[in-house]
Amino acid sequence: MEVISSTPEMKAWSAARLRDCRTIGFAPTMGYLHDGHVSLLRKARAENDAVVASIFVNPTQFGPNEDLSTYPRDPESDLSKCKEAAVDAVFMPNPTQIYGPDHQTFVEVTEVSKPLCGASRPGHFRGVATVVLKLFNIVKPTSAYFGMKDYQQLRVITTMVRDLDLEVNIVPCPTVREPDGLAMSSRNSYLSPEERKRALCLHEALMAAKALFEFGEKTAAKYLEAMEARIKATPGANPDYIKLTDPRTLEELETVHDGALAVLAVRIGKTRLIDNMVFERS
Ligand code: PAF
Repeated sequence: MEVISSTPEMKAWSAARLRDCRTIGFAPTMGYLHDGHVSLLRKARAENDAVVASIFVNPTQFGPNEDLSTYPRDPESDLSKCKEAAVDAVFMPNPTQIYGPDHQTFVEVTEVSKPLCGASRPGHFRGVATVVLKLFNIVKPTSAYFGMKDYQQLRVITTMVRDLDLEVNIVPCPTVREPDGLAMSSRNSYLSPEERKRALCLHEALMAAKALFEFGEKTAAKYLEAMEARIKATPGANPDYIKLTDPRTLEELETVHDGALAVLAVRIGKTRLIDNMVFERS
C-alpha cells in the first residue's frame, strides 16, 4: 500500500492506473476510521481494480466554534485498517496541499444544503462540496463511496456531480451500527460511558418512527411527537432538529409516504450526533 501526501504524486498515481484502463474506487474520509469506513473500503475493493482512501480533516467544513482542533486523529491505526482492507493507496495531504495561501474558489450546492445540518452549520456543505470536488479532481475516481449516515452530505454530493457533469459514479453505502443500534461515527469517541448509553436515544427515536410507519400512520406530526418524546425523556439530550422529509429534496413532509426520510441531530452533552432512516414498504 502506498501512502501519498503530495497532490502531484497522487495525480500521477491515478493517471497511471487509468492509462491501463483500470477502475478506481475511492473512499474520502477524515480519518479515525471505524467499521463504517471499512465497509466503504471493502465495497470499493470488491467493485474496482484499484482502491484509494483519503484521510484529510478538512478545515473548511468546520465552523469557527466547532471541533476542528479536537477532531480525533489516529493515523497509525487508520493506515493499518486501510492495509487490512487491501487499499492500494492512501492520500494523506496536509492542509496547505489542498488549500494554497491564495485559495479563493468554493463550490456551493444551493437548495439541498439549506435545511437540517446546513441550517445549524452555516458553510459546512460549501466546505464539503469544495473538498470533495478537489479530491475527485486529484484522485480521478471511477466510483466514490459515501455512507448514508451523512444523508444530506450524500444528497449534496450527488447534486454537485449531476450539476457539474462530473464523471464519477456515487455509491451510497448503508449506515453501519454498533450491536445496540448506535450509528458508527468518529465523534462517538467524544462520549463518556454515561453519554454513550444516552446516545442510544437517536436510534430509539428512529425505531419508534419506524413502528408508526409499519402501523400505517401517515401524519408526520405523529412521528415527530413520538421521536421528540424519546429524545426529551433522555437526560442531557438536546435536539438540534427532528424532521420527516422527502428523501430527494429534503423538504419537510406533512404526510408520510413510502420512501420518506426521518432525520435528526441531537446533542448529547457537548457532542452533536446525527442519524436517519428511510421508511420503505417491504
Ligand atoms: O464524511 C466525511 O468524512 C467528510 O465530510 C468528507 C466527505 C471526507 C469530506 O471532508
